[in-house]
Parts: sequence; C-alpha cells; structure tokens
Amino acid sequence: MQIENLILYFVTGNKSKFNEVLKIFHTQKVKVTLQQLNIETVEIQADNIEDVALFKLNSVKDKINRSFFIEDAGFFVDKPLKGFPGVFSSYVFKTIGNEGILRLIDDFRGSRAHFSAVIAFYFKPLDKILIFEGGVRGKVSKEMRGTKGFGFDPIFIPDLIPNKTFSELTSQEKNQISHSGQAIRKLISFLKKISKE
Ligand code: IMP
Repeated sequence: MQIENLILYFVTGNKSKFNEVLKIFHTQKVKVTLQQLNIETVEIQADNIEDVALFKLNSVKDKINRSFFIEDAGFFVDKPLKGFPGVFSSYVFKTIGNEGILRLIDDFRGSRAHFSAVIAFYFKPLDKILIFEGGVRGKVSKEMRGTKGFGFDPIFIPDLIPNKTFSELTSQEKNQISHSGQAIRKLISFLKKISKE
C-alpha cells in the first residue's frame, strides 16, 4: 500500500511531546507527513488507559477526515498504592506532584512501579482503529533526582538502567526504553509493514 503521501495527525496539545514523536519518525525514516492537531478531546473516567484512549479517539473521529492517533499514558505504583495514580496521573501530578507521591508511599519507597502508554490509531485507508501499547517497569526512587523530562520522571528508576531516574537520562536514552517510545515504534512498524504490502 502506498503511504508516501499519507498525512498523519497526532492529536495532542503538547508541543514537546509532538516534537519527540516527530524525531522518532525521522530517525526511523517513515515516509509519512506527521502533523500536530490541537483539538479538544473528551476524556472519560475509566479504570484503564486503553478505554480512555479509545474514547478520546472516537470523540473526535468524525471531525477529522484523515488518519490520526492519540496517546494516553499513566504512572502506576504497586505498594501501597495498588496502581494509583494510573488513569489519574495527569491530575495527580498537577495537584500533589512528585513530593505528594513520595509522601503517600512513605515507608514503601523503592516500591515497584511502571509506566504504560496506549496509542489509539485511526487508519483511514482501511477504516480501522488499531491499538499499540508500551510499558516500562522499574521502581520509585527514594528521592527526586535529575532535571530532564517531565511529570513523574524524577522519581522513576527503570529496571533497564537501574542507577538513574528517567530525569537523569537524555531524551534519546529515555525514548529507547520508554513506554511511549515502544508504542510509537509499534505504530511505525505497522506503517512500514503496510507500505510493503
Ligand atoms: P499523558 O496521557 O501522556 O498526558 O500522560 C498523563 C500523565 O502521566 C502526565 O501528565 C504525566 O504526569 C504522566 N506521565 C506520562 N508519561 C510520562 C513520562 O514519560 N514521564 C513522566 N510522567 C509521565
């Protein structure tokens, strides 16, 4: 299938997230035109990020006459939070932040945790919705460390680089192992595969 003239929208209000994804598309040499589309989506309260992502996708699908995707992610702390903040990550980050999470888990510092990302993708040529997921496991750091990244990066230590928090990695290092990087690479693999069929 010819995808060289495909214009693909990434629906997000976050310019830096868009630029990160654009960088991955360029390094992976995908021959589609990626554009940012900043339109309001509807966010439901659900107990998993896949449902949130699918609802968001469907809330704008009729307004967009092209292929597009949205990404949804969350930070999940095992003990003693049983997966919290999860689907509430962005609200919890805005309200209590990293200090609040460290205070909440208190004696459990070093608790296992993970990030998950879901990309919901509407592929117009096939009139199909596809889901691509990514996840990265690790633990909560005893204190905030590092200056790079965003959100819960300063308190997350990935298993694959156990001496650093996400905030101490360059964006390239983080992308190689991150939940979002994995989900994006799965989307790119799909586009490359379909372009050969
Ligand atoms: P979003 O759905 O990608 O906007 O992610 C929701 C929230 O999860 C963000 O506001 C962040 O607080 C948190 N989050 C998601 N991905 C990351 C990440 O890679 N690092 C740190 N925090 C993240």
